[in-house]
Amino acid sequence: MKTIYLIGFMGSGKSTVGKMLGEQLGIPFLDTDQMVESEYGPISAIFRDKGEKAFRTYETEMLKRIPDNNHIVSTGGGIVEQEQNIAFMNGNGIIFHLNASMNEIASRLGNDPNRPLWGTNYAERVRLYNRRKELYIAAADVTILTDGKTAQNITEEISSQLR
Ligand code: S3P
Repeated sequence: MKTIYLIGFMGSGKSTVGKMLGEQLGIPFLDTDQMVESEYGPISAIFRDKGEKAFRTYETEMLKRIPDNNHIVSTGGGIVEQEQNIAFMNGNGIIFHLNASMNEIASRLGNDPNRPLWGTNYAERVRLYNRRKELYIAAADVTILTDGKTAQNITEEISSQLR
């Protein structure tokens, strides 16, 4: 099976669903954020000490390490900020976009200090959300609306699309 990439805004459930999908299909699950952290340390420290640009370089490096078959991959919300990442994922596998509403995201994330780009200003959060949403939709093979659904529901929806 081709590698499956999950994309979507911070807090859209990519890691939870990815893990579940990997277990259900019996294939390995990888998370690009976790890969960056195990190699370079906490994301918040990378942003603080080296800046977003360094983080984006590490993120792309990890993405490109993942084989083009038999993996489920949860990506960071900013993976679509670089065209080369989108081209890589499109060339190597199938992209599913988990599309959660701004309200749902805001209530899930609260004021999470471990997500440097979530910040504190509501207007900026909305601006980022709206800009990213267009990028996710354009990049994805399939967009799944997630509001009101459990991780199990979403996992089943992806599985049935794959069949
Ligand atoms: C980011 C999202 C985060 C993480 C980093 C940057 C973003 O991942 O990669 O903080 O730019 O949206 P999650 O989507 O898993 O929170």
